[in-house]
Amino acid sequence: MFTSEETGLAVEGGPAARTEPWPTYDKGDVFISPEDEAAVIKAVRSRLYFRYDHRSYEETCTGRFERRLAERFGARHALACSSGTTAISLALLAGGLEPGSPVACPAFTFAATPSAIILAGHTPVLVECDADLHMDVADLKRVLDEGAKAVVVVHMRGFASDMPAICELAGEYGVPVVEDAVPALGARIGDRHLGTFGDFGAFSTQSDKSLNTGEGGFLLTDDPEAYARATVFSGAYEDRMNRHFEGTPPPVDDLAYPIFSFRMDEIRAALADALLDRLPDRLALHHRNYEHVAQCLGEISGITLRTPVAPRAYLGEALVFRLEGASPEQCAWFARALCAEGVDARALGDRGDKNVRSFWNWRFLVGPDADAARAALPRTARYVSEAIDIPLSANLTPRDCDDLVTAVRKVLPALG
Ligand SMILES: Cc1ncc(COP(=O)(O)O)c(C=O)c1O
Repeated sequence: MFTSEETGLAVEGGPAARTEPWPTYDKGDVFISPEDEAAVIKAVRSRLYFRYDHRSYEETCTGRFERRLAERFGARHALACSSGTTAISLALLAGGLEPGSPVACPAFTFAATPSAIILAGHTPVLVECDADLHMDVADLKRVLDEGAKAVVVVHMRGFASDMPAICELAGEYGVPVVEDAVPALGARIGDRHLGTFGDFGAFSTQSDKSLNTGEGGFLLTDDPEAYARATVFSGAYEDRMNRHFEGTPPPVDDLAYPIFSFRMDEIRAALADALLDRLPDRLALHHRNYEHVAQCLGEISGITLRTPVAPRAYLGEALVFRLEGASPEQCAWFARALCAEGVDARALGDRGDKNVRSFWNWRFLVGPDADAARAALPRTARYVSEAIDIPLSANLTPRDCDDLVTAVRKVLPALG
């Protein structure tokens, strides 16, 4: 397309804007302190790895982690589990829907969200996203009118969905709301944590989340009976569910439900609990990085940043912006050019990429015809196709953030 003499772009053979690797978790850049290591070693040396052994709830790492989560997030109950996917499924299972119910979820999310709905025995029904890549509330109404029995809303790439509007609408239809807050652990709207607006909040502690234990997750809810059912489904058998309650447990028959072994183990809980101490530091770094980059990129014409639903209603662990009017091929080239400049970037709509954040690649749900899938959800197809996705690790320094801005400024004019 261009020569390096014309553009100086690294993708055309010119010098890159930066030479160090872009920091992300999969290059080993995880936050771990000596206190975290000591907590894991202590748990390993205890030789007690199962959360439901002879000890009381308070004596277990998992029980302590749950109590602290509930306190920190301002929820009545927390249940640690094996992943974000199982947390979403447990919410839907505990919600008591008829098997095979239609469940609304946004078309811009990670494939795990519709997968979790399927795992719980239901059918995902995709809802369009708006230009900010948030669940479109008007389209959600359409899906509810067509009979959806629950809503799974996603705070995709850390940006809060419009929870007050979604909860109000779901309330009118009498359907439960599950927040997939996996990408937004620690983010808030105002003073209130994402994951505490709906009936359930589902989180992950998988790598690259604000609490990173490799794999893991947790569920928040204020409903004691639903919580009791979720603990049973997660594998609290033979009255072990009772340990989760300080007083009399709710009248839930633990033999009435299947048990799925979606529990969290003690070693992982010890690490997660230790990491919780430093969560505020990490969240502050995410906000610092995002705000720095967004402020600089906001001044560049041709870059459309997402507008948050409220001031600072995002986590800041990822930067997603749109190149409005650019074709999927142009966006794919733009992402390749940024990578060549030393900044990890992906075009979400790259037709040659098996990106599982692009709904037309969810063949398990939409079938093999990607064009037909895009035609069924034209607005989300367009907005996702125009989106560039860049990970903003909390490990980024202000200089790394400047490099990102330099790289975008360098590459953008060549887009034409
Ligand atoms: C939006 C979203 N939901 C759910 C999940 C699943 O979380 P886990 O990998 O812990 O199952 C992910 C994973 O990254 C995600 O991004």
